Amino acid sequence: MILRFLPIALLFFLFSCGDQGKHEFNPPEGYKARSGKLIYKKHCVSCHGDDGKLGAAGAKDLTASKMDSTGIVNILEKGKNGMPRQIQYFESDEEVTNIIDYLNSMRK
Ligand code: HEC
Repeated sequence: MILRFLPIALLFFLFSCGDQGKHEFNPPEGYKARSGKLIYKKHCVSCHGDDGKLGAAGAKDLTASKMDSTGIVNILEKGKNGMPRQIQYFESDEEVTNIIDYLNSMRK
């Protein structure tokens, strides 16, 4: 009987390992997204610094960044050079939106 479920299990396996770049969020009901500031403090400060200008590990000055939201999502999902992939630290699309808003608020 277990063989009957094998193709389904395989499908799940394929989908979950498929496109490593993309990230699907399924936050539970009643979930509350964290603010961009909080996420930034937890996961970005070590390289970018409190004010975005630290530049550790070759990090870009975020106050001078002109990257649009598509570019930001892309760098979070894939990483770039000294910046490792970050999307695994986000729990929902709303949190991604929050970090984009926060990054925009840091700009001059
Ligand atoms: C381990 C260090 C490190 C961490 C942690 C890190 N970054 Fe970066 N970040 C970098 C580096 C290095 C670059 C420059 C990449 C390149 O070569 O273009 C960069 C570039 C960027 C850029 C592109 C700026 C531009 O205009 O090109 C954005 C946006 C960014 N980081 C946002 C974030 C956010 C948001 C977080 C936290 C969720 C984060 N980074 C965490 C190292 C880091």
